Amino acid sequence: MNTASDFPTLSITRHPLIQHKLTILRDRSTPTKIFKELVDEIAMLMAYETTSDLPLEATPVETPLEPASGWRVSGKKMTLVPILRAGLGMVEGILRLVPSARVGHIGLYRNHETLEPVDYYFKVPGDAGERQFFVLDPMLATGGSAAVAVASLKRAGANDIRFMCLVAAPEGVRRLAAAHPDIRIYCAALDRELNEQGYILPGLGDAGDRLFGTR
Ligand code: PRP
Ligand code: URA
Repeated sequence: MNTASDFPTLSITRHPLIQHKLTILRDRSTPTKIFKELVDEIAMLMAYETTSDLPLEATPVETPLEPASGWRVSGKKMTLVPILRAGLGMVEGILRLVPSARVGHIGLYRNHETLEPVDYYFKVPGDAGERQFFVLDPMLATGGSAAVAVASLKRAGANDIRFMCLVAAPEGVRRLAAAHPDIRIYCAALDRELNEQGYILPGLGDAGDRLFGTR
């Protein structure tokens, strides 16, 4: 059994609300509408935790009564990069917390036989070196998609990248960490293993199909 301590770049959130919602997400009887709402809510709650180290700078503010001093988030501009399709389900929840974030897109799908990712779309803001990227995908299975997505971002000039998923398999964390040891990985659960078809066990099934009702 792998634990977070086996993977130095992995953080697993233990927040009770996230664990409660994740369990409903795993349930095979959870319908598409609820599944979508839960992915959105968990992503928002995870973003609250994964942004807890953002730098702040002091700023003056005029309250209705007097001048005061306050804080605002400083540092690099945040950019969310969902891996299509399933990563799209995580975007809106995070944007509710950080409405000024930009959104890039990376299109990848797994070849069902080789399980290797095939890329079909890439669009991120031009000033990639000035931005902090959060790559979003509910599932980190073999890690192929995540590793290719991060490599594409680095080729575009990105040098500050975090990867956020809901469920990770040890195989995926190992592959992503080996390819990109500089990337922090956040998940809500580290599951047991992959099956022969590359699905995470116990997992939650095919995230894209469950989100968009395409099964
Ligand atoms: C799923 C998932 C990840 C990928 C994870 O997408 O959303 O992107 O598989 O698997 P990996 O770690 O083994 O690469 P899928 O390829 O099914 O595409 P979809 O989101 O368009 O359904
Ligand atoms: N992609 C998914 O959607 N689910 C898995 O379990 C593995 C890859």
